[in-house]
Amino acid sequence: MPGNEDRTKPNVILTGFMATGKTTIGRLLARQLGYEFVDTDHLAEDRIGQSIADIFREKGETAFRALEVEIARELGGRQGLVIATGGGLLLNPANVASLEEQGQIFCLVATPQTILERASGDATVRPLIQGPGPKKRIMELMKEREAVYRSFTQVDTSGKTPHDLVRELLALL
Ligand code: S3P
Repeated sequence: MPGNEDRTKPNVILTGFMATGKTTIGRLLARQLGYEFVDTDHLAEDRIGQSIADIFREKGETAFRALEVEIARELGGRQGLVIATGGGLLLNPANVASLEEQGQIFCLVATPQTILERASGDATVRPLIQGPGPKKRIMELMKEREAVYRSFTQVDTSGKTPHDLVRELLALL
């Protein structure tokens, strides 16, 4: 894995439900901090050479989650990164353990309606909320995941621009 990161810089990890803005905000934040930006979904796609939707369809969610464990372990050994995680990655305590030692975790929060509007366009990344009744599915998954998401520092994205959120995160570091 390329390693041009600075060893004295703790990572910043952005988690949260699908379509809460982790990638957009992470990219901007990394630029501000002079850190490298990585997105665990992109790493998974590059590693397998398939979209997330195809990985889920052809190899199954269990294989995808195993890949996430591998990726989290590798990123946990690096520094100077802003890491946008897939929304399910930190539901596995092993991945929290891999990442939290070298970094600070923030959870981006958005309403189900905002998530629905943002996520409806992209079927390649979010197979878990495709199909009929996506809003109901979003609400069910959110409820299932609520306790874990709440265990991280929450950053509400409602009514804020990406630049507002970057400023807010910088103040929290
Ligand atoms: C998932 C979120 C997705 C992707 C996969 C599973 C989840 O990433 O990792 O579809 O379980 O929440 P985003 O959070 O970037 O949409």
